Amino acid sequence: MAYKKIMQLNGNLGYYFPLFNKHGFRSSISPFMAGDAKRDQHRFALEPISELGLYVHGLGRNVIFNINNELYFLNGSTEKQQHDEMTLEIDLLYQKVTRKSQIYTIETTSYVAIDAPVELHQVVYKNHSNVNQALIVTTAIPLYARSADNMRDHRHVTSLLNRIMVEEGRVTVKPTMQFDERGHQINHTSYHVIASSDVKINGYIPTIDQFINGGSLAFPKGLNNIIQNPYHIDGYEAMGGIQFEKVELKPNESFTCYYGISITEASESIESIQKKYLNKVGFEEGLNQVNQSFKEYSNKLQFQLGDQPLSDRMNWMVIQPMLRRYYGNSFLPHHDYGKGGKGWRDLWQDLLSLIMMGDDHVKETLVSNFKGVRLDGSNATIIGEKPGEFLADRNKIVRVWSDHGAWPLLTVKQYLDETGDLAFLLEKVTYFHDQYTHYTHQTRRDIPKITYQGTILEHLLLQNLVGFLHQGEHGYTKLEDADWNDGLDMAKALGETIAFTHFYTNNLRILADLIASLHQEEIVLYQALGLLLKGDIDLNQYFNQAASFEDTLIHMKRDDVIDKLKNLANSMKEKLEKAFEDQRFQSYYNEQGILLDTKDTANLTGQAMALLSHTATDEQALLLAKRIKKLLFNEQIGGYHLNSRYPDAHMGRAYGFAYHHKENGAIFSHMSVMYAYGLYQYNLVSYGHDAAFTLLKQAEKEHSGVLVGIPEYFNDLGIGKYSYLTGSASWFLKLLREQVFGLSFDLGVLTLKPKLKACDFIDYKANIQTVLFNHTVKITYHNPKALDFGQYEIAKIVVDGMTTDNHFRNIGKHVEVYLDEILRSI
Ligand code: G1P
Repeated sequence: MAYKKIMQLNGNLGYYFPLFNKHGFRSSISPFMAGDAKRDQHRFALEPISELGLYVHGLGRNVIFNINNELYFLNGSTEKQQHDEMTLEIDLLYQKVTRKSQIYTIETTSYVAIDAPVELHQVVYKNHSNVNQALIVTTAIPLYARSADNMRDHRHVTSLLNRIMVEEGRVTVKPTMQFDERGHQINHTSYHVIASSDVKINGYIPTIDQFINGGSLAFPKGLNNIIQNPYHIDGYEAMGGIQFEKVELKPNESFTCYYGISITEASESIESIQKKYLNKVGFEEGLNQVNQSFKEYSNKLQFQLGDQPLSDRMNWMVIQPMLRRYYGNSFLPHHDYGKGGKGWRDLWQDLLSLIMMGDDHVKETLVSNFKGVRLDGSNATIIGEKPGEFLADRNKIVRVWSDHGAWPLLTVKQYLDETGDLAFLLEKVTYFHDQYTHYTHQTRRDIPKITYQGTILEHLLLQNLVGFLHQGEHGYTKLEDADWNDGLDMAKALGETIAFTHFYTNNLRILADLIASLHQEEIVLYQALGLLLKGDIDLNQYFNQAASFEDTLIHMKRDDVIDKLKNLANSMKEKLEKAFEDQRFQSYYNEQGILLDTKDTANLTGQAMALLSHTATDEQALLLAKRIKKLLFNEQIGGYHLNSRYPDAHMGRAYGFAYHHKENGAIFSHMSVMYAYGLYQYNLVSYGHDAAFTLLKQAEKEHSGVLVGIPEYFNDLGIGKYSYLTGSASWFLKLLREQVFGLSFDLGVLTLKPKLKACDFIDYKANIQTVLFNHTVKITYHNPKALDFGQYEIAKIVVDGMTTDNHFRNIGKHVEVYLDEILRSI
């Protein structure tokens, strides 16, 4: 299992890499030292960047080398350095860049400390020429030191708040106040550039003005404007300029320095960070610790299949859901809209991987997430940094995503299947109360203090029943302000999502089955919900009753609840069959109340949801697989397009994007992988394999610009965008584990049902290492006859040396599964 990836760089392909720790220090870094470093939206040490910032190097972590009176930059932005040979090495989670020219080799290793709010760098400069060099090294790191909001909101005025201190080995900025959307507050945060070496510090350049001195960031003229420690200056843009004394290097001699960028609060000591990390031993120990800790995490889910580069890519994907838990959809160069926190949908999807990793906190996290559900079936959309922290919306514009109610059950079902913990459904939690009622369409002045706690089962019933019954004029779930596709946000009046109607329909069936497994005579529900389920009141009456909440309960017979749910689901399933025309499902009604797809167009969402929800018949599944491949598959750029080109869609901003980009018809990994999962469920394994693995093969191509893992999407040129933070990673892992390797759980019982293709085996073997029943297990499938899916069955299972049945309530550590031809009786 190799995480280390070493590659030659042919120019700037826009690569960036995340460096972070679990205490909230988050950086993005490019091989050219661009990127930023922050603790949250309001505490950025380096200026926040978007995609273009990957090519503007002066604001990053530059170091200037004066070599025999000529300037060279660590970021390579001088004319003389354009032909440097560059090697990039990445691993869990550090970056090492080696820059080589005729005169030097510069090796920079960067990581974020595991236990301290600091990003650290070791720079080893070596004289690679055959003459002596006089070398002066100066760090040149502009300290932005404020909230991201101040980029275009009082950028200059906030520099007047800066109090800049030069102390031993560091430049520190502590603004007096913070100006941001929360109003002006006293600031307690300090931002630092720290540096050290065996060579003494010559002096400091603490402001950008002193550094530029009539030049620019690219041609600084102030490198001799050296100031001695201690020094204090107020009201300027700060510069982390720390200069070392001149050294004489003979050929092959080297100079090493350490520097860091840190953001500290009053309780955190920058001196101890300097002492601990800015030396060889501390730096290397810190690096080792980071590497070990991420390795330990990712070893809990590993794959070996296809070939080695593909396996390595899949193994990197294990880190992606973790990254999204800590970055949300924010704080990396493409993710320039987020402000931290997480969206509701993403929260539940990230949990899929937490369940796969056997995380100890899954249960409590699941429970606290349900506290975000409102009594009207809608939910808080933004979740803060801590569990159980909810907001109606990030921008205070309240919206309803019509798919939101559907996802929690998918995650809960996975949890129940893996653990068999059905009692979880009967745990009681509160609801989220704010001014919004009636699916957020009405507001109230006083927010009632309701302490009522309903079971998790009740929360799930509520979400899915409301989502299902909130129908438009054609009888499908109303689109509201969007569904999974966030960009379908302008069809609120007449838009309907047939796609998510499939999902809600299946959810009602799943709930019926779960209730059947509960062995309870009666199901106790909050009265208005019971009446809605019985059909005694309609949705509007329910919303009225929910708004003026009364704490009355209703006891319903278990079988009545099951019947009601099944009847609703069955009649919708019949209706959905009619949405299958021209060999694929319709996905949406648009804002004109017209079906979105014409005869020759298709949308992947409707197909993926029908397959995932088992609402398509086997015949429909095969027909649609064939038709969609013709309409949407493009092997050259990563596989399935999200949709056809719609000239006149009347759906939302997504279709204002250029076609082939992002939510308008890009190769959108998340939907492609969910589609693949659906195809595997129907045993359409070759189609599913194409959908998923074409994405990976695209990511492997150098020009796609995808360093590791899987990006959110590929554009018209097959270039990957929005790296790392994407729900597709969780889904890809789920696909591999549950479908490809066939770890099929049903309420605590595991059965192996592999769907590996002949090409998935490496030397007749394919294996998965994963957490099952609370411990790590390695399962190896042996396929000595190189049989394809459909030709083999399981001939023998050996667990820790003992032959075993294919039915597990627990399992040993090493599982060998032997595949052989299917014995067909004549
Ligand atoms: C992103 C969002 C996800 C949303 C999708 C489509 O996709 O995070 O919530 O459903 O765009 O708008 P991701 O790549 O993270 O899956």
